[in-house]
Amino acid sequence: MAVEIKGKRLVFTREQIADKVSALAQQISQDYQGKNPILIGVLKGAFMFLADLTRHISIPFKIDFVRVASYGAKDYSTGEIKLTKDVELPLKGEHVLIVEDIVDIGYTLRFLLDHIAAKGPKSLKLCALINKLERRKVEIPIDYVGFTLDKGFLVGYGLDFNEMFRCLPEIYELIF
Ligand code: PRP
Repeated sequence: MAVEIKGKRLVFTREQIADKVSALAQQISQDYQGKNPILIGVLKGAFMFLADLTRHISIPFKIDFVRVASYGAKDYSTGEIKLTKDVELPLKGEHVLIVEDIVDIGYTLRFLLDHIAAKGPKSLKLCALINKLERRKVEIPIDYVGFTLDKGFLVGYGLDFNEMFRCLPEIYELIF
């Protein structure tokens, strides 16, 4: 059944996002001084956040990507997650930072943290632009958080609804 979108409400402006991204990059640059970390972007949603974040990081680092798919409608998520693209760099003994656009229910990150931990990194941390709390089913330790909010279907700045709205430079809440 098609879902009707009644409108969208601005939640975070370009300026708010840019300020947060540069503050996160500064903290990451400080914490990972001398560690040459590997940043892993989670496709597709994190592409814009990762691109902006990495342009503000002032220390040497490498970039890789993973892609995961979750099965079943998100609202009734079964927690069944499948890896559709793995990282390509070896992670054993490396300092790894996962970069994610949003942690919502939490199943995606629980899967990814376990998956990456099994590769034997020296350290493993998580950076998420948005920590959305209301639907969380599993506890996820987030080391670097941009914005925390309770609820709302968010789009823009990488986040989509049926593959739409990803390229908006601001973040909006869809009104259904
Ligand atoms: C979204 C988002 C996170 C994940 C969070 O990705 O980008 O990766 O869901 O989900 P959870 O905390 O509720 O498990 P999605 O699976 O929609 O794919 P996409 O990044 O390609 O849009």
